[in-house]
Amino acid sequence: MDFTNKRGIIFGVANSRSIAWTISKSLSENGASLAFTYQNERLKAPVSKAVKDMNPIELLECDALDENQIEEVFKKVSKSGPIDFVVHSIAFAQREDLGGNFSETSLDGFRTALEVSAYTLIPIAKHAANYINKDGGSILTISFEAANKVYPGYNIMGTAKAALENSMKQLAYEYGEKKIRVNAVSAGPLPTLAARSIPGFNDMRNIHANKSPLKRNITHEEVANTCLFLLSNLSTGITGAVIPVDAGYGIMGL
Ligand SMILES: NC(=O)c1ccc[n+]([C@@H]2O[C@H](COP(=O)([O-])OP(=O)(O)OC[C@H]3O[C@@H](n4cnc5c(N)ncnc54)[C@H](O)[C@@H]3O)[C@@H](O)[C@H]2O)c1
Repeated sequence: MDFTNKRGIIFGVANSRSIAWTISKSLSENGASLAFTYQNERLKAPVSKAVKDMNPIELLECDALDENQIEEVFKKVSKSGPIDFVVHSIAFAQREDLGGNFSETSLDGFRTALEVSAYTLIPIAKHAANYINKDGGSILTISFEAANKVYPGYNIMGTAKAALENSMKQLAYEYGEKKIRVNAVSAGPLPTLAARSIPGFNDMRNIHANKSPLKRNITHEEVANTCLFLLSNLSTGITGAVIPVDAGYGIMGL
């Protein structure tokens, strides 16, 4: 896949184990120019170190709950050229809302998880749409099968992923006329910072490996490959889709 002369913004690198990092590395190796955001000052140094070799166009602070910061990111990056694609790889839930009884989810915990993990796609897509190349572009988010099925322990994040996938589809409809495609990759469990806060995550990995048709866990690179396909011109007929990269786990009933 050739991303020469293509420019994109990556939201969601925390370190070199982040799914967004592997997507970025692969994009960069295929010629893309990338701008990165980091969530807050604390993450500036680690993110800067993690993406240094990809020669970022920009490295900008952006708390995705702050729409002004999102707008600034698009303004700044578009000053040096058009934007072709955007990756949204952001999620968060309070630790007390992961694990335990779902019915104990607090209103505050519900809001936090849904706002960070689902709502943020909306302002990012809205501002992206003002700056994306007039010939069209691609916006991508990362979901998980808990949007559709119960994964004990994942709790409120399942609700957030359901909202994320539905929002993604509504945005795909809205921006279709502008030739902007919006899709999701639904990844199997991968060891990352965010995944570490999910109770029973290691069991989830083992069950995936045992039950999936491919009899193994997926890799970061496999997720990145499918993301590149969705960000590239090879997928111009696809929008509003959720593509699973899960070694086939999702087809199994037993
Ligand atoms: N790791 C997995 O098993 C897995 C599986 C399926 C889907 N996902 C999804 O992939 C995405 C990336 O997660 P990851 O596993 O790479 O973990 P990660 O911890 O590396 O990435 C999560 C990112 O979200 C960012 N973030 C959180 N709150 C933010 C805010 N308010 N503003 C801006 N950024 C914020 C963090 O800074 C971090 O960079 C998430 O949506 C996650 O739910 C992960």
